[in-house]
Amino acid sequence: MRVVSIDYKPIAEVCFLNAGRGAGGYYEDRLPILSAELQELPSGLDAVIATADLQGRARFQKSQSGPPRLLGEVLPKILTEVVATIGLSNPDRIAVLLAGDFYTVPALDKRGGSGDVSSVWQSFGRSFGAVAGVAGNHDTFGPNQETRPRFPKQLRFLDGDRTSIEGIRVAGIGGIIGNPTRLQRRTEQEYLEVLESLLLEPLDVLVMHDGPDAPSCGFKGSSAVREVIERYQPPLVVRGHSHWPDPLVELASGVQVLNVDARAVVLRAVDRTQANP
Ligand SMILES: [Fe+2]
Repeated sequence: MRVVSIDYKPIAEVCFLNAGRGAGGYYEDRLPILSAELQELPSGLDAVIATADLQGRARFQKSQSGPPRLLGEVLPKILTEVVATIGLSNPDRIAVLLAGDFYTVPALDKRGGSGDVSSVWQSFGRSFGAVAGVAGNHDTFGPNQETRPRFPKQLRFLDGDRTSIEGIRVAGIGGIIGNPTRLQRRTEQEYLEVLESLLLEPLDVLVMHDGPDAPSCGFKGSSAVREVIERYQPPLVVRGHSHWPDPLVELASGVQVLNVDARAVVLRAVDRTQANP
């Protein structure tokens, strides 16, 4: 998968509540939805949507009772409505790549809380034809805070795993480099070993939560991860965790990195866009 172009002007923005520090510190924020063009997509797909770091909650109007719902629970339905306005009217023909971190504490009074994001994955699964992705370093799954979910087959959780969506070869590694006794973390050595094992086989897109840095732009990430990625040169890396002001960067080796932290990107094939405007 190669991105041919990206439109920096959002096709839509979704209002949500972002957590603040302390009671009542939350504030209204906007999640941009961008569109981009891919060189090609398999005939079974009209688009791929990539997103990560939906660390917020829906506005109170969207939640009838109880705390406001996670942004990622309400976003899939909104996305189906937004993409319909650009001609993507069959969400069954859209695949979603989730790059992790979908939790925010219910009181919105603390940033960086961890918790169960199963409902976010399930919501994407109800709205779209295929879902694959990885865990963020704040994500747990289920009432017992497992780090690996027990999802039905159609929700393809990847952590050192590979899958194929309509022929698109997807590999994924979740979490971040850090103290392995903490949630969703591996030592650098273990992380790089898992990464390298995924890159030994050809793939079309690598989904990661943390990921490479982009030193030419001064964007944050791991230089060790970048060095491994540049050696194996997967065509496209989708990552979250650190917000980059520019969502698409090409590394020196030509590897494209799409940073979807706090944004959603709708990727369509160039020729289909022209055929079905
Ligand atoms: Fe993160």
